[in-house]
Amino acid sequence: MKKIGILTGGGDCPGLNAVIRAVVKKSRQYDWEVIGIKNGWEGLIKGEMELLSDYSVSGILPKGGTIIGTSRTNPFSDEKDVQKTLQNVKKFGLEAIVAIGGDDTLNVAKRLHEKGINIIGVPKTIDNDLSGTDYTFGFDTAVSIATEAIDRLHTTAESHHRVIVVEVMGRNAGWIATMAGIAGGADEILIPEVPFDFDEICNNLKARYDRGKMFSIVAVAEGAYPKVENTSLGSANSSSGNGLITQTNEKDAFGNVRLGGIAHYIAKEIKNRMNVDTRVTILGHVQRGGSPTAHDRILATRFGVAAVECLKNDNFGKMVALQGDKIISIPLSDAVSETKTVDMNLYEIAKIFFG
Ligand code: F6P
Repeated sequence: MKKIGILTGGGDCPGLNAVIRAVVKKSRQYDWEVIGIKNGWEGLIKGEMELLSDYSVSGILPKGGTIIGTSRTNPFSDEKDVQKTLQNVKKFGLEAIVAIGGDDTLNVAKRLHEKGINIIGVPKTIDNDLSGTDYTFGFDTAVSIATEAIDRLHTTAESHHRVIVVEVMGRNAGWIATMAGIAGGADEILIPEVPFDFDEICNNLKARYDRGKMFSIVAVAEGAYPKVENTSLGSANSSSGNGLITQTNEKDAFGNVRLGGIAHYIAKEIKNRMNVDTRVTILGHVQRGGSPTAHDRILATRFGVAAVECLKNDNFGKMVALQGDKIISIPLSDAVSETKTVDMNLYEIAKIFFG
């Protein structure tokens, strides 16, 4: 092997640069050239690439984002783009590709591998919802940011005797809400895996008032939705029909809707039912920005090194994964087969502290 490509696809996440750096530095041991494909699959369709030298990756370990850019482009949306992708792999002499991404990016990787491209996947996402790996890098950073936010919201909620509803990302999995909620001591955690019930939420919060706790923090995952629409607001804010709150009806190239705003709906309902002052904080993209935690830098570095080792061993069509303390490789098809949702044993622990 002489030349490999690397790309980052989907939503950015802290630790992407640590993987890129690890791949470039590990490849040096084998004298391989590493070509950075710009903006995810879009760069492969358009033939936009740049050589990644030692100089390009110098100093990027603590930097958030991705130095080669990203996009949510799906070459399989259009057969012509699939052909352009395959042609450019040949044209640029890429003997293998390291694709760093979540389920959408890795699903494309799987399909391109089926078409004969040598690919290895690296699991990234703040959502931690990829199967086959205990953790994705980026998740620990997002949980740390959300935990710090919950800590800060505690003092202002207490001073003003308010219920503050804090919304975190995670798409259809409640990992960030559960972990940050436990770490930050949230009084209620609402996740997509367990449709919520306003009667239960308000009973829990009332129990706090009865104990003299005149404030509460409710952590909600953006993909959470009510068990039944038993609210005075009805389904006015729900554009999906199942209670899931979306920002628009538009979908991205992979069919994902843009979630966000459920916290407003919950805060209004709590105010109506309990006659308390409520406020909303939506953390949004702040959870994805900035420097990765030490944990994410280490995990991303281990993944990058393992990805190059897979290529060296002609172990293609795989995703590197963390299982226990070991980095292993699993078929890409296993990684994208289903969304990894929150472990209910963990959620049971979180519930002990509700109310
Ligand atoms: O998958 C990562 C993620 O941050 C989700 O938690 C969130 O729903 C989505 O991406 C937001 O995407 P965008 O950056 O396109 O708004």
